[in-house]
Formats: sequence, C-alpha cells, structure tokens
Amino acid sequence: MSSVIDILDLSTEEIEELISVACDIIENPDKYAEKCKRKKLATLFFEPSTRTRLSFEAAMYELGGNVIGFSAANNSSAAKGESVSDTVRTVSCYADIIAMRHPKEGAPLVASMATDIPIINAGDGGHNHPTQTLADLLTIYREKGSFENLTVGLCGDLKFGRTVHSLINALSRYSGIKFVLISPEELKLPDYVTNNVIIKNNIPYEVTTDLIASMPKLDILYMTRVQRERFFNEQDYIRLKDSYILTPDKLSEAKADLSIMHPLPRVNEISVAVDKDPRACYFKQVLNGKYIRMALILKLLGVE
Ligand code: CP
Repeated sequence: MSSVIDILDLSTEEIEELISVACDIIENPDKYAEKCKRKKLATLFFEPSTRTRLSFEAAMYELGGNVIGFSAANNSSAAKGESVSDTVRTVSCYADIIAMRHPKEGAPLVASMATDIPIINAGDGGHNHPTQTLADLLTIYREKGSFENLTVGLCGDLKFGRTVHSLINALSRYSGIKFVLISPEELKLPDYVTNNVIIKNNIPYEVTTDLIASMPKLDILYMTRVQRERFFNEQDYIRLKDSYILTPDKLSEAKADLSIMHPLPRVNEISVAVDKDPRACYFKQVLNGKYIRMALILKLLGVE
C-alpha cells in the first residue's frame, strides 16, 4: 500500500493491524516517540479543518517527526493557478508523506499519480474521508470490542456527508451489520452508495425520516452535520439544517450501551446537554483520530 485515497484501499487485515498498532501506541507511547525522527509530513489543506489537520500534525510530532504545510488554498500557489499535480510534485521534494484535503472529489487521487511518496486523502469534497473512518473504527472497536452484529443508525446529511460514505464502505465488510439510514428526503444516501455497497453486499437496511422511532434498535448512532459548504442554495440549507437535533429526552428509549458518535464539527445537531451522557463518544473519536493517524503514518512510511 503506497497511498490511502479510499477506505477500501485498506484490506480488513490492514485495518485490524492499524487498530492493533494504535492500541499499542495508547498503551506504550514512549516506544513510538522517535519512530519518525528526521521524517517530514506535509499537510496540504485546500479546505478548512481543525481535527484532521491538527491530529495529523500532532501525530507526526508524537512520532518524533516534523511537519510542513499550509492550511488554506489562498496560502499556497494554488491561488496563482498552480495545479494539484504541480503542487504535489513540488512538495514531494521537501516531504516524505502528504496528507491532503481538497474540495474537489478525486483531487487526492490525482495527487497520488503525480508522486511516488504516500498521499493520504484527508477529505475530498463530498466523496471520502478514510482517516475519519479509521478514527471511527478505532472508536467502535474500543467501545464495542468488535465490528460484527451491530445495528448502525446514520442520521442527518447522508447525501454530502463523506464520513458516512466511507464508514458504510468499511462496515459493509463485516457480518451481522444492519444500517438504519435516517435523513430528510433531500439528504438521503446517494444511490451509488446504496446500490454499489449496501445492496451489493446484501446488508439489511432501512430508510426513514424518524430518528426517535429508530432509537431503541440502535447500537451506534452516528450523527452528522448538514454540510452547508456543499449546498448550491442557501435557502435549502436553512430549511434543512435543523432537521435533527439530538437532545437528552430523545435518548429515553435508547439502549444503555448505545454509542453516540459524530465526526465533528457539530453545529446544532447534538445538544451540548448530551455531552454529559456516558454514551457520548464524539470527543473520544477526536482523540482516537490522533492515534490511528500515528499508526497509518508508520505503516505508509514502512517504519517497523
Ligand atoms: N472530522 C473532521 O474532518 O473535522 P475537521 O473538518 O475539523 O478536520
């Protein structure tokens, strides 16, 4: 494996190996403190980020490596019209590995064709966000101990939510998974994901607009933000943005061991009152994101 553009670039064995390394990093951080000494990570973020960029950077520092990069397209020569390929060929002269976020679907794939160093897709448009999925999988593993026999509710913007698309792809490879797809009609999961992933893998699923009625059957509730930046029309965003707001009263019929997840950032879709609920896992996901990215950097750099 030289680059990670899609979660399916990783086999289930490779994902399980990354999870195992991440768990070892959590237990024995000192063992890893100099593993990437003299290596450089470049973070090329053409779109805003807090968690993904900073967790990649924290991950590289905790491995003893260094970080270069930019956090917005207008801080780079992309603002002068430079292509993604030329940017990546240039950065490859300075860095050993690149994490890239771009608003255009497919840009990290194009980048991976322009260089021999590993490219990690840190989110491309509404398409994919494989390292968020790795953080989600590490969280599910640490909460549930397995990826099998789980009923997973995905709620909110299933159309533009790239983390949802990557997570469905990843979980569809495990047995006993069921999906409950909870969204307004306008934000339902794209047909290409439903047909090519869920139906193709014979995964049981239901489509509903009703979060409360779905609640009692869920082992995992994965809430998502309505993705304002992907809407063509502000009026549509305003009409749909508060379709689902999770509040403590809506959890009254939920399982005692439900895991409430969210890739963050949140806007209104989870009330801050839910943060005190021991079932809330979204800040655990943030921390797990750093550990799994450490494991991924080690693997892509071929560090033992
Ligand atoms: N989850 C996630 O991708 O967050 P950021 O946009 O802050 O990186």
